[in-house]
Amino acid sequence: MTNTLTITRPDDWHLHLRDGHVLADIVPHTARRFARAIVMPNLKPPVVNVDQAVAYRQRILAAVPDNCSFDPLMTLYLTGQTRASDIRQASASGVVQAVKYYPAGATTNSDAGVKDLTRVYPVLEVMAEENLPLLVHGEVVDPQVDVFDREAVFIDRVLLPLLQTIPALKVVFEHITTVEAVALVKDTPDRLGATITPQHLLMNRNALFQGGISPHHYCLPVLKREAHRQALVEAATSGDPRFFLGTDSAPHAKSAKESSCGCAGMYSAHAAIEFYAQVFDDAGALDKLEAFASFHGADFYGLPRNRDSITLERSPWQVPQMLRFGNEELVPLGAGEMLPWKLSD
Ligand code: NCD
Ligand code: ZN
Repeated sequence: MTNTLTITRPDDWHLHLRDGHVLADIVPHTARRFARAIVMPNLKPPVVNVDQAVAYRQRILAAVPDNCSFDPLMTLYLTGQTRASDIRQASASGVVQAVKYYPAGATTNSDAGVKDLTRVYPVLEVMAEENLPLLVHGEVVDPQVDVFDREAVFIDRVLLPLLQTIPALKVVFEHITTVEAVALVKDTPDRLGATITPQHLLMNRNALFQGGISPHHYCLPVLKREAHRQALVEAATSGDPRFFLGTDSAPHAKSAKESSCGCAGMYSAHAAIEFYAQVFDDAGALDKLEAFASFHGADFYGLPRNRDSITLERSPWQVPQMLRFGNEELVPLGAGEMLPWKLSD
């Protein structure tokens, strides 16, 4: 049995850090584990241009602990107003690595998102020219579509037409949750990648209702059936380079989650690589963790692989019930539970 595991330091290819005084509570969790993270732009107001991305990056860097070296990779939020010039500036900046597409109304802070993706195809053509990837929140918002089917329907209505119309555009299908998404990525040549979260690997939709409604297990895309979870585990542990680590760690105050209208998002940054180690261990695939966590994403983005390493040990530890979140509290994923893998100091 493997009891310690040293891997090249991983990167998180999908992360929410928020802004302001909570950064000091949130950034250190990621910076201790990961060398880089793709930072989502869904602030209020969203990050829509290079100047805002540069300023946000500085605020994040100010919250990185002294003993960590952490490089936040910034993204722009695609809106109906995004111009070709914004894209060219982003590409030239060296700071912005991708552009994020939220269908308007699909998830937390997505009001500024795009209503009809075909209307911004000219901007996406420029992204293809500049080799800037489009990161996709892949769910339709049509209220007629069952919430558990929103990703599968998105593939047919939005993603396939996009891939066909702009074949040179690199796309990351973010936080995939379904058999259908896994199949699409496998069937598409190299320009389509996908991130997979720890929660979608660890849990199925029963976790939303275990012993009563569980708001801390609510995120978007929502957890799916067990067959989908199994397909995700198979994809993540397969060694296929198109699947890579992206936590979608998304902190919300306890009061905002435990509410009559609880918001979407799970916080996993406090134990992110530990959760993935648990999944890969359970699947008998610990030897595949390093490539998924540390190689595939960097290769997809065309960035160098990290040179230093982290070590995990099989040494059970208890996740705190609560973390600080500015003046509020945050309930982390796995609160109070024992996790089998621990990050070595
Ligand atoms: C994210 C958030 O809170 O910003 N929430 C979530 O459930 N994943 C937004 C997102 O990535 O959809
Ligand atoms: Zn997200």
